[in-house]
Amino acid sequence: MSELVLDGVCVERGGRTVVKDVTITVPAGQVTALLGPNGAGKSSLVLAIGGVLRPRPGSVSLDGSELAGKRPEKIRAAGVAIVPEGRRLLPDLTVDDNIRVATYALPAAGALAGRKRALELFPALEKRRGVPARSLSGGEQQMVVLAQALVSQPKFILIDELSLGLAPVVVNRLIPVIRAMADSGIGVLLIEQFATVALGLATSAYVMEGGVIRYAGTASELRDKPDLLHSAYLLRGSTAAAPAAGDAAAPAAPATPGTAAPGAAAAQTPPPASG
Ligand SMILES: Nc1ncnc2c1ncn2[C@@H]1O[C@H](COP(=O)(O)OP(=O)(O)OP(=O)(O)O)[C@@H](O)[C@H]1O
Ligand SMILES: [Mg+2]
Repeated sequence: MSELVLDGVCVERGGRTVVKDVTITVPAGQVTALLGPNGAGKSSLVLAIGGVLRPRPGSVSLDGSELAGKRPEKIRAAGVAIVPEGRRLLPDLTVDDNIRVATYALPAAGALAGRKRALELFPALEKRRGVPARSLSGGEQQMVVLAQALVSQPKFILIDELSLGLAPVVVNRLIPVIRAMADSGIGVLLIEQFATVALGLATSAYVMEGGVIRYAGTASELRDKPDLLHSAYLLRGSTAAAPAAGDAAAPAAPATPGTAAPGAAAAQTPPPASG
């Protein structure tokens, strides 16, 4: 089975190592969750996989071929699409034109097939194709952003903060689309600050904090043992040497969700937001 394998990836930003020795496997046909609080290094990792930042050192390999250090367009052509955090549409262009813009580097035949395939996954967009992006709802905009990444018919897609700024009811409408992507054979890395949605979809899960992977295991274990997740989130801002998630020495790991600090509660529940 096809796999995207990150091995020992480090990323430096502003003279600091913000991603440290990260090893993650993303299998085809599954959703893999990457969770972590603000500043954990999730977006830096995504940008490094996409070739916008350079992993130094570290390997990003797709079925044995090395992608680390390649240019973003080469990485996309190899089958890895990234949806960067906070991606915006061109507000005055229609849905169709926003999707067309995303195909500019593709050969004509591939562009047509890619657009068709991307739109198939979003039947809700069918009636909105001629509408300017600025008049779409937040959820519809996120669908167009995902469609833009899918036009290259990627084998792997990395989605940085799917639910950012969206109301839970809107996020719920995106869940079947992510499921359909994985069922069609695409390997999905779903990056989220809030655990509920990602753990509901994922088979495997990773928790990152302070640039380091604190948990690697199954999503179901993390669903069943929320204190594993809470303790990783509570390490935020800690200057002490970092214990592993679930380590008995972790500071103030809550025994029950009721005793969790506000930051830990936020790990489970998205804030109210508009869609
Ligand atoms: N352009 C930049 N230059 C220097 N340092 C940066 C830059 N962008 C982010 N950082 C730092 O890199 C670290 C990791 O940030 P990153 O954005 O990757 O985290 P994140 O997990 O995506 O957080 P969030 O959940 O807030 O999106 C932080 O300490 C941040 O301050
Ligand atoms: Mg981020």
